[in-house]
Amino acid sequence: MNAFDQQKEIPGVKNIIAVGSGKGGVGKSTVSSNLATLLSLKGYKVGLLDADIYGPSVPSLFGCHQQDIELKDEKMIPLERYGVKLMSMGFLIEEDQPVIWRGPMLFKAIDQFLNDVHWGELDYLIVDLPPGTGDVALTLAQKTILSKAIVVTTPQSLSLAEVKKALMMFKKMDVPIAAIVQNMSGFTLPNGESLNLFPEGNFNELLENYDIKNFIKIPFEPSIGKTAEAGIPYIKSSKDSETFKAMESLGELIL
Ligand SMILES: Nc1ncnc2c1ncn2[C@@H]1O[C@H](COP(=O)(O)OP(=O)(O)OP(=O)(O)O)[C@@H](O)[C@H]1O
Ligand SMILES: [Mg+2]
Repeated sequence: MNAFDQQKEIPGVKNIIAVGSGKGGVGKSTVSSNLATLLSLKGYKVGLLDADIYGPSVPSLFGCHQQDIELKDEKMIPLERYGVKLMSMGFLIEEDQPVIWRGPMLFKAIDQFLNDVHWGELDYLIVDLPPGTGDVALTLAQKTILSKAIVVTTPQSLSLAEVKKALMMFKKMDVPIAAIVQNMSGFTLPNGESLNLFPEGNFNELLENYDIKNFIKIPFEPSIGKTAEAGIPYIKSSKDSETFKAMESLGELIL
């Protein structure tokens, strides 16, 4: 049997969008949470699945720490913030407890997050992946049908190799790439001057070689960190920002 034979749709969920990268700390969770919030602001029905089982971010990004998840008909009811339905391992375990699991349990957890949650009718289920090209992404691709993937990176050439790995992973899984998001791409000083925080890698060549049509830049924005600490998605309070516009463009690419 081919492992991908297990793929099945989630009833009621129209599109599943994976947000991944080869590298850690580049902004996957920031992009996922803001994109989900933006799509909800635009009137879409949206869910956000935090697939980072070992290091969940969604509870703190949405200011809802450990909660007692309620069950209905033996399925979990997702929490809801800013119109986005949320599910995360962080809702099920105590905050300072590490998850120490082997592959099969990880496999089971992802399966339950897909099939044993009352997602209801959703236009988009955004999946915030853990860093790397490992078990979680593969499990997800085997268990369900991913409509599109977004690959997040930072500008430095060091990230290029990791982006390539992520692109190749999604290609092997037959998941089309909606866009590469270059996060922390430049910083505007208070005097209006712009500054590159990292030495720029040659992304043009990468885009050409992998036939990627959409490249979206998000600047380094100190308020992103501050709003994250406060548990409020950044775009809620910054409708004129470049980041808001970047999220709008990204939203259009997955429509
Ligand atoms: N554009 C930005 N400007 C300023 N800070 C940012 C930006 N994007 C992300 N950050 C900050 O960088 C840190 C890492 O971001 P985030 O958690 O989204 O990355 P990640 O790729 O999900 O990390 P992990 O691999 O650990 O899951 C966070 O503290 C976040 O607030
Ligand atoms: Mg993350």
